[in-house]
Amino acid sequence: MSALTFTPAATARRITDDERARILAAPGFGQHFTDFMAHARWTVSEGWTGAELVPFGPLQLSPAAAVLHYGQEIFEGMKAFRHADGSVWTFRPEQNARRMMRSARRLALPELPERDFLESVRALVAADEPWVPQPEGETSLYLRPFMFASEEFLGVRASHTVDYYVIASPAGAYFPRGVQPLVVWVTDTYARAGAGGTGAAKCGGNYASSLLAKNEAVSHGADEVMFLDSETHTAIDELSGMNVFAITRDGRILTPRLTGSILEGVTRESVLQLAADRGLQPVETTLVMSEVLDQISSGEITEMFACGTAAVITPIGEYRSQDGTWTIGDGGSGQTTLALREELTGIQYGRVPDRHGWLTRL
Ligand code: COI
Repeated sequence: MSALTFTPAATARRITDDERARILAAPGFGQHFTDFMAHARWTVSEGWTGAELVPFGPLQLSPAAAVLHYGQEIFEGMKAFRHADGSVWTFRPEQNARRMMRSARRLALPELPERDFLESVRALVAADEPWVPQPEGETSLYLRPFMFASEEFLGVRASHTVDYYVIASPAGAYFPRGVQPLVVWVTDTYARAGAGGTGAAKCGGNYASSLLAKNEAVSHGADEVMFLDSETHTAIDELSGMNVFAITRDGRILTPRLTGSILEGVTRESVLQLAADRGLQPVETTLVMSEVLDQISSGEITEMFACGTAAVITPIGEYRSQDGTWTIGDGGSGQTTLALREELTGIQYGRVPDRHGWLTRL
């Protein structure tokens, strides 16, 4: 197959310059969308064709489209960052491209070649360049590539038609309280993923199945929900859309090992590297929740945080469960957590040397 070229089909200025400036000053998360979206279609007979940039807007979809019935869908999350000199960069985009290929395999969707994924993102950001916020205030342009079964067919099998889009949304902090420490509810009722399931894939179904537990968390005054493994219900998996880390008094940084039911976070992998760079000992292991809570009580675990593209690095201040409440450290933002956050965002915004070669200019 020859490489896809995403060319603008039309100019698309839905929003005035003044309105865009107002949005960029306080974008929130996932509420506002840019002028364009990238699109390509796959069919079983022709493969990937028809790459285009079209005005952002509603899709025309048959009510019988397979995705609406059987949830055959995957997505990615990544960001474009503006540096002080005005240039625009993205962070480890090839990792997102490869993860999307792995997710596609698991969901029986077609794999979009890495070069086409990267080109779709590059072309969209080029067309939507005025939407990339200035670096002050840690705002960025959140990019959401996604792919779904669009065939009009109710039989249960892999779709013969698939649509791929990339949309973009200016973004500030994911959590409404910014980087304030999270309160996390530990669910003893629900699991996110099971052995052999889709836990390692970035598919909508994983997020759909987290929502009831998230509601339960919110009803207990928490910001997020902690899922434990589905088999023993003892080991930490992840939050509703973020990986989890713990830092110990003796200089280890712990995170659940990849079991096949945990998302292989790009931020997770980057944090492991940055932590090792600063002399912490990274340990990917089974983290038994009850032991973690004991180590929080004894002061052995001094900090915990959530991480992901959207959440960046957000401290966890407290766990709640049916059995009680545990405050991590003094409940505030841990020093090492904030230092890792500062370094990661420093690299992304070009304030800190990119010593691992993680940035790609768009
Ligand atoms: C991301 O971090 O980009 C995600 O896709 C997770 C979601 C909670 C926004």
